[in-house]
Amino acid sequence: MDHIDRPRIAQLREADPSPELIDVYAWVRTKRDSKAVCFFELNDGSSLKGLQAIIDKEQYPLQEAIDRMQTGCSVRVRGHLVESPGKGQKVELACSDLEIIGEAPADSYPLQKKRHSFEFLREIAHLRGRTNTFGAVMRVRNRLSWAVHRFFQERGFLYIHTPIITASDAEGAGALFQVTTLDMQRLVNAAPGTELNYQHDFFGKPAFLTVSGQLNAEAYATALDRVYTFGPTFRAENSNTTRHLAEFWMIEPEVAFCDLECNIALASEFVRFLLADILEHCSEDMAFFDQRIEPGIVEDLRRVAESEFRHISYDEAIRALEASDRTFEYPVSWGIDLQTEHERYLTDEYVGGPVVVTDYPRDIKAFYMKQNDDGRTVRAMDVLVPRLGEIIGGSQREDDLATLERRIDELGLERDAYSWYLDLRRFGSVPHSGFGLGFERLVRYVTGMQNIRDVIPFPRAVGSAEF
Ligand code: 4AD
Ligand code: MG
Repeated sequence: MDHIDRPRIAQLREADPSPELIDVYAWVRTKRDSKAVCFFELNDGSSLKGLQAIIDKEQYPLQEAIDRMQTGCSVRVRGHLVESPGKGQKVELACSDLEIIGEAPADSYPLQKKRHSFEFLREIAHLRGRTNTFGAVMRVRNRLSWAVHRFFQERGFLYIHTPIITASDAEGAGALFQVTTLDMQRLVNAAPGTELNYQHDFFGKPAFLTVSGQLNAEAYATALDRVYTFGPTFRAENSNTTRHLAEFWMIEPEVAFCDLECNIALASEFVRFLLADILEHCSEDMAFFDQRIEPGIVEDLRRVAESEFRHISYDEAIRALEASDRTFEYPVSWGIDLQTEHERYLTDEYVGGPVVVTDYPRDIKAFYMKQNDDGRTVRAMDVLVPRLGEIIGGSQREDDLATLERRIDELGLERDAYSWYLDLRRFGSVPHSGFGLGFERLVRYVTGMQNIRDVIPFPRAVGSAEF
């Protein structure tokens, strides 16, 4: 095998013709074999379009290998780049040697050259990365995660690794996956009335997979000024929708000496930065999504990348929804949590672009949000985008010790469990803010893919944890 710096197809496609012999390692997408020549297309995942290869059969007697070469097989192809007479490509590989590395029998390989439904591809998630769509999704996903780090690193944020296993419910909203080493079968077999004793559990108390790294990030923001997390989060929500996963990745910045206005500015700058980056660096994949998945998406994202986000209050949002002539499945009145249909109306129709909604009723938001003087709303913000709805949720945090303690009591949460969190208000408390961006929501928004399960390699959702 060659060294890791062997040429990749993305670079070869742009290279000039040359007599230099190179070895290309890739998978075969298609083959057209005729009497004198054999054409085939190679793809190695480095770009959407592959490299065309051609064998002059009179010059190179490779028929035996050609016969074994089928869609999906892996190959080493030796050859040199020649100018391509065909349109749509600058060069092609004139092949002088062909080695089949791994065959892919046509009668059993599930990815034959035809359109497959996304439902079908979800059932073969271990192979779907070999299709054009999923290759493009994963390249865009990769670039976006790189851009996330660039954005924060360029602004002096420290990347903090917050715990995956936690004993506190950061959102206070339930929907937790419990982590335990207790023997379930023994619990089932135990005599009725037996009390569950967490002394025997691994951590000596109930523990869960994290729903958010925010509380831990706050501890470090109040030490290092600005930090972010980018890690997996888990929610046992029983929602079988196209925008919920049980395991998803979240980016959570947290900034000291930063109020809600500062937070809104950071969030919209962040989203615009990510869109501009992806349009610049993944243009081929984005053109594919524009053509095949969501017509007009490139122009739409470009416009968003260049525009200021509208900012409205929850009050205004409710008035707009009430004034619309739309009948919503879920009736609108002050105090409701906005449903997807409401969010979509606000972005797609009322504003016609992304919108930041702030100052939600405190009863529908988490305990840690900064309370407004009106006694009924909090300094919360959600960023909503067209076609999707909520993509970011965040807030200014309550930095006043007494107010936060009162809220924890009111909600029946245990003060003891949050004593370390309250310390952040006891010692050197500062106004601070942050938000969470659901990474898969972002990838869905950017690619136009309809189902969130199709923008993560191996989706986990209610009733589904294959692969
Ligand atoms: O609005 P959420 O629940 O906010 C928080 O967790 C805060 N602690 C964030 C913070 O202020 N640091 O979740 C944030 C985002 C949502 O806007 C959404 O994009 C995404 O996480 N999200 C999900 N994505 C996929 N599947 C789910 N089940 C999701 N739940 C939330
Ligand atoms: Mg939210």
